[in-house]
Amino acid sequence: MADAPAPFPLDRPARLAVFASGRGSNLAALLAAFPPASASQPAPGAAGVVLVVSDRRDAGALALARDAGVRAVHIAFGRDREGFEGAAQDELERHAVDLVALAGFMRVLSPAFVAGWHGRLVNVHPSLLPAFPGLHAVRQALAAGVARSGCTVHFVDAGVDTGPVIARREVPVLPGDDEATLQARIQAAEHATLPAAIRAVLRGEAAPPSPSGPPA
Ligand code: GRF
Repeated sequence: MADAPAPFPLDRPARLAVFASGRGSNLAALLAAFPPASASQPAPGAAGVVLVVSDRRDAGALALARDAGVRAVHIAFGRDREGFEGAAQDELERHAVDLVALAGFMRVLSPAFVAGWHGRLVNVHPSLLPAFPGLHAVRQALAAGVARSGCTVHFVDAGVDTGPVIARREVPVLPGDDEATLQARIQAAEHATLPAAIRAVLRGEAAPPSPSGPPA
């Protein structure tokens, strides 16, 4: 079977969606870097956030999106991953989304959904992957006594925080750090790294290996 063509770069502005479960500080950084209006401008390389999806009705991210005039949708997840993914996919298609950023999205998407967005689905994680995947990454780093931690932006694959890395940024772990202080330092790094990594993807400078593997 022939490989699908690389999705990026596009010859028109890119339309971005963000999935978020929390307060949305990464979403705020993405709205600043990719203003919604840019999605309808002819400028080469332009990109704009056009859709925000949350599994939590009370997520700060949804309020931020509404304030920015972006379509903000709550879709319940519960035990019904297929229901969430079907409704999310409908929204993504309705809004002609090119790339999805998981920005503090606390759910694991199915291998089928992930495969459908191969090369167009990225996640930000608060550790220097492959160290400390999964929940409570900042707590894990403190418990391990590492001198440096940071954040990673990666393409999403069928595992949890295992996909190909696009960018990492280190921060020091300082004497006296607790989870809140280290998390704040890491989040500041995320706010710069996530938009920069997405720009690299949109320019075609970062792409995951083909799902069919290297040529024989
Ligand atoms: C980020 O630190 C992200 O790495 C983690 O959850 C946090 C979300 O923060 N998975 P925010 O909602 O973007 O403020």
